[in-house]
Amino acid sequence: MSPAAELAVIGGSGLYSLLDGAGEHEVETPYGLPSDKITIAEVSGRRVAFLPRHGRDHRHPPHLIPYRANLWALRSLGVRQVLAPCAVGSLRPEFGPGTFVVPDQLVDRTSGRPQTYYDRGAVHVPFADPYCPNGRRTLLAAAAGREVAAVDGGTVVVVEGPRFSTRAESRWYASLGGTVVNMTGHPEAVLARELELCYTSIALVTDLDAGLVAGESVTQAEVFRVFGENTDRLREVLLDVLAALPSERDCPCGHALAGIKLPIALP
Ligand code: ADE
Repeated sequence: MSPAAELAVIGGSGLYSLLDGAGEHEVETPYGLPSDKITIAEVSGRRVAFLPRHGRDHRHPPHLIPYRANLWALRSLGVRQVLAPCAVGSLRPEFGPGTFVVPDQLVDRTSGRPQTYYDRGAVHVPFADPYCPNGRRTLLAAAAGREVAAVDGGTVVVVEGPRFSTRAESRWYASLGGTVVNMTGHPEAVLARELELCYTSIALVTDLDAGLVAGESVTQAEVFRVFGENTDRLREVLLDVLAALPSERDCPCGHALAGIKLPIALP
């Protein structure tokens, strides 16, 4: 039987739908229901699943998103490659609102979120490079093809939220080498790795984070406004990437669990 979907997009704040004429699927998992129904449609001959990370009505705040259910549900549909657009604040003055960043690293500053499927046994996945190298390459090429400037590489500092950072925290993240800051990049990336999924993030800068501005710091309204202004460009790039991603995976992501005895069966 052919899989229901092979590729997926997890849409972030402001990207609640992507696919026209898509069928909707409610997918149950051992970790509960995902953030919302998953829509599946064909894009350039590929079966693509779309899941709005916060739910269509943005009901899940970043610290309470059912991350484990989301990734598990996608894998159970047959998905093996995930694109993860997200809104981020910038820690670098040269990367202002509207800049796209294709990160290659992350720093986890979250706390208390379930971040593994493996609460029994010894399952330690490699995570030195949290993002799929093939996905990143394909994404950068697609952005260039659309003449959308995208920064190649950068470190996402993932904070617990739901509040924004203080100026001192923001300056500290920048001094640690952070490029951008957001609230959802972790544990999404590591859960994808634990399921041997390719995971590629495309971060859209919606604001300068608190350490970079003198007056009022970022507001939620500003994040949504800037994201909304850039959704069309993001959509075009995403659709091009979906068409261009190779179906055969030759990256390390698909072998993250090689040689490890799993305490649970993967879907
Ligand atoms: N998402 C968008 N902008 C952000 C910021 N400044 N801090 C954390 N998450 C964000």
